[in-house]
Amino acid sequence: MKVVNSRWLTAVFALLAILSFAGMACAAQEQVKATLTSSDCVKCHSKAPADIAANGMAHKTNVTCQDCHVGHPPTVKKIIPACSQCHEGKPHFSLSGCLSCHSNPHTPKVIKFGNNVTDPCLTCHTPQIEKLRKNKSKHSALACSFCHNVHGKIPDCTQCHKPHSKEMVQADCKKCHQAHMPLVVTYGAETQSKLCASCHKKAYDLLMASTAKHKSVLCVTCHQSKHKMVPKCQDCHGLPHPAGMMAKFPKCSQCHNIAHDLNHWSADTTPEGAAQGAKKAAAPKKK
Ligand code: HEC
Ligand code: HEC
Ligand code: HEC
Ligand code: HEC
Ligand code: HEC
Ligand code: HEC
Ligand code: HEC
Ligand code: HEC
Ligand code: HEC
Ligand code: HEC
Ligand code: HEC
Ligand code: HEC
Repeated sequence: MKVVNSRWLTAVFALLAILSFAGMACAAQEQVKATLTSSDCVKCHSKAPADIAANGMAHKTNVTCQDCHVGHPPTVKKIIPACSQCHEGKPHFSLSGCLSCHSNPHTPKVIKFGNNVTDPCLTCHTPQIEKLRKNKSKHSALACSFCHNVHGKIPDCTQCHKPHSKEMVQADCKKCHQAHMPLVVTYGAETQSKLCASCHKKAYDLLMASTAKHKSVLCVTCHQSKHKMVPKCQDCHGLPHPAGMMAKFPKCSQCHNIAHDLNHWSADTTPEGAAQGAKKAAAPKKK
């Protein structure tokens, strides 16, 4: 320690000498230039140069120590720059407390924040807050950084929620949900019926037990795109029977039962006979 201290003192004296010499030089109008340069800093300061070397980013490549620290104590007392000296003109630069997130100016892109940040994010990201506000859900009341606790990191839904069934995994969530509007459930034409089965076991089991051709149709081929959409038979089949017959039996279900469990006619395959059969079969249920 003693050795370090005496070295340090020597260094301070050297610096003072340099500084006062520089002052004299200035006053004497450009005699000899002997000034403190950015390569001298490391002689007395180790952390800042090391941080900049490792993670300085643009503060390493675009500026020098002395662009930010102009002069040096004791000659110049205040040599800590304000960020606004160089960063101005964007909404982001009107925030207060730059150093609360950019905690070390020598590693400007190493960013830290708590789990309650929303407004500062909006200086750069806007589509997400629009979705959150337009489609109210319990996510709308959470702070952005409650989920994105490290900048740029996308959390898994399963960090906070259980899947709807054992077979379901994280990758499935986004087939039906978007994080910023989680209650608006939409899905693509490929979505497997098993995923719907996690909540609609009865419908799934009924359809799988059926021998009619609907068995091989995906849930989402009929219940297209948006959750709770219910199709009409005619959307796919048009008008498959003569108008006279349809006038007498206006509902498909009078003969075909329901989509998940279509009727099968065995003996009597005429429409009228089938209708009679269907009515009989339906009668006890209606009571
Ligand atoms: C000879 C040793 C020495 C050299 C070389 C040196 N410094 Fe310093 N520096 C010090 C000492 C000692 C202090 C503490 C002074 C004080 O607190 O009054 C200090 C303090 C500082 C501070 C803190 C000021 C504050 O207000 O807290 C900054 C910033 C700084 N130096 C930057 C630099 C930069 C940039 C360079 C290179 C251009 C440099 N120093 C070169 C010894 C040195
Ligand atoms: C982009 C501007 C910028 C650059 C470039 C920069 N600094 Fe700093 N430096 C700052 C700011 C701002 C602070 C005050 C940090 C704080 O308040 O926590 C600071 C603080 C310091 C301090 C005092 C606190 C500490 O970390 O010990 C020293 C010493 C220092 N800088 C040295 C340097 C050296 C040496 C370089 C070049 C290798 C350098 N700085 C480059 C902006 C800069
Ligand atoms: C002496 C001028 C100067 C000062 C003071 C300064 N910066 Fe910078 N900073 C720059 C320049 C130049 C760049 C590169 C161009 C740009 O992004 O504007 C930069 C870039 C950055 C970047 C992006 C880094 C990258 O590589 O993409 C961040 C973050 C940053 N500055 C934060 C700060 C913060 C926070 C402060 C205050 C503690 C600060 N700067 C003070 C000059 C400065
Ligand atoms: C709530 C945290 C937070 C605060 C407060 C904050 N920043 Fe940032 N800043 C960020 C994040 C996050 C980024 C994006 C980093 C990236 O692109 O990877 C960023 C990027 C930057 C950049 C580089 C991108 C650009 O737009 O040029 C600069 C420069 C910058 N900030 C300066 C500042 C200044 C100056 C302040 C204070 C006026 C400040 N920041 C306050 C979080 C913050
Ligand atoms: C200064 C501007 C700035 C600020 C402030 C900022 N970001 Fe970013 N953010 C960026 C940039 C630039 C990227 C990288 C480019 C991209 O993928 O869009 C990014 C990327 C992201 C990503 C990853 C995007 C992807 O597609 O993988 C998330 C998530 C994110 N930011 C969330 C946040 C949150 C949450 C906050 C507030 C705590 C925030 N950002 C603050 C500029 C910013
Ligand atoms: C960091 C934790 C976190 C992550 C990650 C997360 N959520 Fe949430 N989510 C919550 C909290 C907290 C609630 C509110 C719970 C409550 O009050 O019962 C919630 C509620 C919900 C709700 C119900 C909303 C309402 O208004 O009833 C849905 C749906 C939801 N989350 C889906 C998802 C999906 C899908 C993902 C991934 C894209 C996801 N969540 C990621 C924390 C999280
Ligand atoms: C409930 C957790 C949660 C909250 C709250 C949240 N996000 Fe996200 N964010 C996610 C997830 C998960 C993704 C991945 C995409 C997806 O699943 O929809 C994401 C994606 C992103 C992306 C990448 C681009 C995109 O839109 O897909 C950005 C940027 C982003 N979020 C910013 C924000 C901002 C800003 C806020 C606050 C206004 C915020 N997030 C609130 C969980 C959340
Ligand atoms: C096949 C579509 C589908 C998939 C895949 C899916 N969900 Fe859902 N989820 C829904 C539907 C539909 C609702 C709303 C039910 C209602 O209206 O009450 C819902 C509701 C929720 C809720 C709020 C109600 C509750 O059960 O707590 C959360 C949380 C949720 N989902 C999380 C997830 C997560 C996490 C994943 C991925 C592991 C996921 N979901 C995958 C369709 C799906
Ligand atoms: C997280 C559980 C959940 C998942 C996963 C889910 N649903 Fe639902 N679904 C519900 C709830 C809750 C209701 C409303 C209660 C009810 O009417 O039985 C509902 C209702 C429905 C309805 C009836 C609408 C009406 O008017 O009666 C249809 C159709 C439907 N869901 C289709 C699907 C399809 C197709 C899938 C797969 C892409 C699916 N659901 C995935 C929970 C879910
Ligand atoms: C999304 C389109 C769609 C909807 C809606 C739909 N079906 Fe079908 N239906 C099909 C397809 C596809 C087949 C199989 C055609 C083939 O393979 O020849 C089929 C087959 C049938 C068959 C023949 C069954 C067999 O096993 O031979 C009947 C009967 C039928 N549908 C009745 C109905 C009735 C009644 C409704 C309304 C409750 C309905 N469908 C709704 C697409 C649909
Ligand atoms: C061929 C088209 C078709 C297929 C495939 C289909 N549905 Fe349906 N679903 C319908 C029709 C049409 C209705 C309205 C009742 C009726 O007329 O049969 C309905 C009604 C429903 C209802 C509300 C009434 C009830 O039974 O609870 C739910 C929930 C439902 N379907 C879920 C599903 C699920 C889950 C799947 C996949 C396992 C599925 N559906 C497959 C056409 C279909
Ligand atoms: C009065 C009874 C009755 C009514 C009402 C009825 N159907 Fe049928 N439908 C039948 C019979 C019987 C068959 C022949 C069954 C067979 O060949 O297995 C049939 C066959 C079909 C077929 C299969 C055609 C083929 O080429 O394989 C479709 C699709 C169909 N009906 C759709 C509908 C739709 C959609 C409605 C409502 C708009 C409807 N039916 C109303 C009795 C009826």
